[in-house]
Amino acid sequence: MELKEAIEKRRSIRKYEEKDVPEALLEDLIRCATLAPSGHNRQPWKFQIIKGELKNKIADTLYEKTIAIEGSTAPHTASVIEEAPVLIAVYLTETDEKNYLYDILSIGGAIENMLLRATDMGLGSLWIGNTSHIEEELKEILKTDLRVVSTVAIGYKNQDPHARPRKNFDEILIKTPDIES
Ligand SMILES: Cc1cc2nc3c(=O)[nH]c(=O)nc-3n(C[C@H](O)[C@H](O)[C@H](O)COP(=O)(O)O)c2cc1C
Repeated sequence: MELKEAIEKRRSIRKYEEKDVPEALLEDLIRCATLAPSGHNRQPWKFQIIKGELKNKIADTLYEKTIAIEGSTAPHTASVIEEAPVLIAVYLTETDEKNYLYDILSIGGAIENMLLRATDMGLGSLWIGNTSHIEEELKEILKTDLRVVSTVAIGYKNQDPHARPRKNFDEILIKTPDIES
């Protein structure tokens, strides 16, 4: 698949088939994530492939913690985590005030690489920020002191959503005025 096609075809997938994803494909996704640029080449990330009971424990914890929050999308995200065969946790490694912005930006780039490679492989994916509702609980469930800054659901897609709307080009492009000499 051409890069532009992958960029255009990627969608947030919230329905998955009950079919496992081979480990080699998941490792390929993570290797592609690590090819992203990172500020000062700090590579401030770690990844963990989570399936089965542990994954469902994360889904249940997220659901219970957020079900009473009016208007929150998090309970629905919890059901997506339950349905997807794989959840990849993306950790921020040690950082400090000076590096924080670059580190977070770098992780965003790594996640996008993963999503595009998933599209390229015919896999569906969902970038999940809602797991930040259970940041402390995740440390306990995953037995870590590191911060999980995002998770990504991966699996074979069971839906073909239309492209979500994007702002008009005119709205996002700031025109630079001609400089008069
Ligand atoms: C940082 C970030 C966090 C997100 N968190 C969630 C989430 O927790 N649950 C969810 O269903 N979608 C989540 N999304 C997906 C967005 O809702 C989605 O990208 C957006 O609606 C555009 O749709 P598209 O990805 O199909 O183009 C997240 C996306 C990003 C970039």
